[in-house]
Amino acid sequence: MNLLDIRNLSIELISNKKPILAVERVSLSMKEGEVRGLVGESGSGKSLLAQAIVGVLDDRWKVDADRFHWRGNDLMRLSAEERKKIISKDVAMIFQEPMSCLDPTTTIGEQLEEAVDTEQLTGYFWQKKQQRKLAAAQLLHKVGIKNHEVCTKSYPHQLTEALCQRVMIAMALARRPMLLIADEPTAAMETTNKGQIFRLLASLNQLKNMSILLISHDLENVTHWTDTLTVMYSGQFVEAGTTKQIFEKPYHPYTRALVDSSPKANLQLPAKSRLPTLPGSIPILQHLPIGCRLGPRCPQAQQQCVHAPKVKNYHGHQVSCHFSLRGSY
Ligand SMILES: Nc1ncnc2c1ncn2[C@@H]1O[C@H](COP(=O)(O)OP(=O)(O)OP(=O)(O)O)[C@@H](O)[C@H]1O
Ligand SMILES: [Mg+2]
Repeated sequence: MNLLDIRNLSIELISNKKPILAVERVSLSMKEGEVRGLVGESGSGKSLLAQAIVGVLDDRWKVDADRFHWRGNDLMRLSAEERKKIISKDVAMIFQEPMSCLDPTTTIGEQLEEAVDTEQLTGYFWQKKQQRKLAAAQLLHKVGIKNHEVCTKSYPHQLTEALCQRVMIAMALARRPMLLIADEPTAAMETTNKGQIFRLLASLNQLKNMSILLISHDLENVTHWTDTLTVMYSGQFVEAGTTKQIFEKPYHPYTRALVDSSPKANLQLPAKSRLPTLPGSIPILQHLPIGCRLGPRCPQAQQQCVHAPKVKNYHGHQVSCHFSLRGSY
């Protein structure tokens, strides 16, 4: 059974003018113990989708889906509040902007102790308090913060962004979630420290069977850590499949361009050469093309692309394109 099963989820930005379909009919599923990457360039709607899953979008956004199931429960039948209650018990999210998600008025220690999963605490309240403190220190060590005493006494503004990001990861892990949504979890960190965090997430996946949705714009990095991938472009579903399928034989021209622009695919290029990219840039919400939104940038585009393509499924490798590259391998 799927842990998370989302079909055709749309997110509309309600404004005084015409409503804007920021995310259009995107499907995503997660199995127990699966590590799925969600990739696409900046502005493709990855964070919006993640925020819709955990139910933290404000009233300006309207979320709709043909199917939104969590562990077999149909969440669309529930109110937003009820939905949030169920999801927040089992799902934790590492937000892309850690500074804005930590409470500026409370110390890191207090925030972390508060986040510790109550099910792991036993005894009287003073014993629980001690256990919370210990768990907080252990979590900080886990995410690579050795000097936990200084960190726990600090307020978020006293820490660097990279440290806040580590704290945010510790807070998410404190809740011992079944599914962890990690939105660019290492964006503010030095390259050498990124591997440490990804190794931690991989070990939690293997030892605790924690499912992870790893969000990134860096396709090549994500391929090292994931079993499956979902690709988005400008709020639309592009392609999904196993990481091997997607990286070795992408069916969508957009994924092909992402793969071709990765350094790994260009090892033969002379040093300091420019990597190949698609011309143009991702459209802004106010000027979304009709049909397939990649149309104006797509090397395969034809007249038919003004109509949004249906998702085709080839043995679990799904692609949404009128002129997929499937036949060209
Ligand atoms: N609070 C907001 N108000 C208005 N527009 C927003 C808001 N948040 C996101 N958007 C717009 O929605 C679209 C998708 O944004 P989103 O942040 O989900 O992209 P993303 O794929 O996470 O990008 P990145 O890789 O830069 O994090 C973008 O066009 C963005 O400008
Ligand atoms: Mg984002």
